[in-house]
Amino acid sequence: MTGRFYVTTPIYYVNGAPHIGHAYTSIAADIVARFHRLCGDEVFFLTGTDEHGQKVEQAAQTAGEAPQAFTDRISADFRNMADAMNVSYDDFIRTTEPRHIAGAQAVWEKVAANGDIYLGAYEGWYALRDEAFYNEDEITTRPDGAKVAPTGAPVEWMREPSYFFRLSAYEDRLLELYEKHPDFIGPVGRRNEIVSFVKQGLRDLSVSRTSFKWGVPVPGDADHVMYVWFDALTNYLTALGYPDVDAPRMKFWPANLHIVGKDIARFHTVYWPAFLMAAGIDLPDMVFSNGWWTVEGEKMSKSLGNVIDPRDLVKEFGVDPVRFFLMREVPFGGDSDLSRRSLINRLNVELANDLGNLGQRTLSLIARNCGGILPAQGKHTEADAHLLGQAAVLPDVMKAQIARVALTDALEEAWKLIRACNAYIDHQAPWALKKTDPERMADVLRVLADALRSIATVLQPYIPESMDKMLTQLGVEPDERDFDALEMPLPAGRELPKPEGIFPRFVEPEAGEAK
Ligand code: ME8
Ligand code: MG
Repeated sequence: MTGRFYVTTPIYYVNGAPHIGHAYTSIAADIVARFHRLCGDEVFFLTGTDEHGQKVEQAAQTAGEAPQAFTDRISADFRNMADAMNVSYDDFIRTTEPRHIAGAQAVWEKVAANGDIYLGAYEGWYALRDEAFYNEDEITTRPDGAKVAPTGAPVEWMREPSYFFRLSAYEDRLLELYEKHPDFIGPVGRRNEIVSFVKQGLRDLSVSRTSFKWGVPVPGDADHVMYVWFDALTNYLTALGYPDVDAPRMKFWPANLHIVGKDIARFHTVYWPAFLMAAGIDLPDMVFSNGWWTVEGEKMSKSLGNVIDPRDLVKEFGVDPVRFFLMREVPFGGDSDLSRRSLINRLNVELANDLGNLGQRTLSLIARNCGGILPAQGKHTEADAHLLGQAAVLPDVMKAQIARVALTDALEEAWKLIRACNAYIDHQAPWALKKTDPERMADVLRVLADALRSIATVLQPYIPESMDKMLTQLGVEPDERDFDALEMPLPAGRELPKPEGIFPRFVEPEAGEAK
């Protein structure tokens, strides 16, 4: 059954350049979007940039630029990064766009009309780096006397008039939401954290600021701008045309999946559903948070100078090896470390050897021994039927994994088939059949071509560019590349293009010279 699917990434702050962590979440969302397109779903995939707040205002000041010019520049850089990573977003929302500002104000007005926003004064610990307020018991004092948030961000005591959102009134409804919809928060470890956080009790949330101007004006009170998180979260609605409920894209609401980093799970699973409940708007189905990447064992930071621009990796290794590595290295949801060695290892072993060689061996045998013509399907032996049976169920097996955002597990399912194909080709040894049983040789190569077609089809969401090449080499037309098309065997007799290697082995320059 096909349907609609709306998936989002966080909108990234434009206070610094895009790095591998941003690319990671965007690639994950891209895989889900592309997978649903293969299922025949009507997909809307949103990404964008979060451009308001004191942090951005200060970054612009430091750069000696006006905030709008500054955000234009950095936002364009984020978009360029998404394009370089082959992220197939349908829209890129910027919170400084008029369509967003009007929509964010409309959400505010709904919440206010519901009686859940009131004017008070804010006093408390504020971390500029996180754009977040912290409770007293979350603050620790360093030996040098500095007060810091659990994230390590310095906090300062703030006092100013502020509008408040009646978050405390939503405690029970949130707990009920988590209870009734256990899939609302993933993975399960994060869910437990959030549930216990909410059970400790929620305080009303300060949702406006008067100490700076770079934000969405609070409707009816020009002294205040919205707290950047109130503004930012509404992007998922404003990009669809909210508050115009008749806008064509509004059919995608509620979102099926917000993918976020674990650092911002709380904003998406506590504040966001509470804002929506207050506004009388349907809630998204699921918020899944990814784990954290370090680089060669260290936290990425500007001062350490180890911030990785994914575009540099793409230049060196190609886009698909980078996408593959990020999804393969650790079960999606867990923390991981980016090491150059491990990236090269996966590229060489899993892409070049396991998959690349399988394709190359099969296609070059067809080119050499079958005149480059796709053989007909033959009579299947038990081994053939077993392999093809495994291929036939692969899309459904992966569908179930993708539904749980188990992106690494789904990838592993494809690898099981690749390994089975490699065992099959070694066992059948089609190269030796040319003289002894050419008919059987053709049958074996056709079984391999069919299994490879399944593999290349299901891997398109992960490594789109190289699977496009592989499908072309297998004689699969562009309109034969979705899951439905897999049900139809390719007609025999297609002329296949000359096979070419898809995943070259990577050799470190130094190692190459040493030989
Ligand atoms: O939080 N490992 O924006 P942001 C994994 N504007 N993921 C990482 C990462 C790392 N080392 N570093 C960043 C914001 N990310 C808000 C969001 S949404 C309504 C507003 C990813 O620029 C991860 O997805 O700080 C994280 O949640 C996001 O980038 C934070 O991006
Ligand atoms: Mg951040």
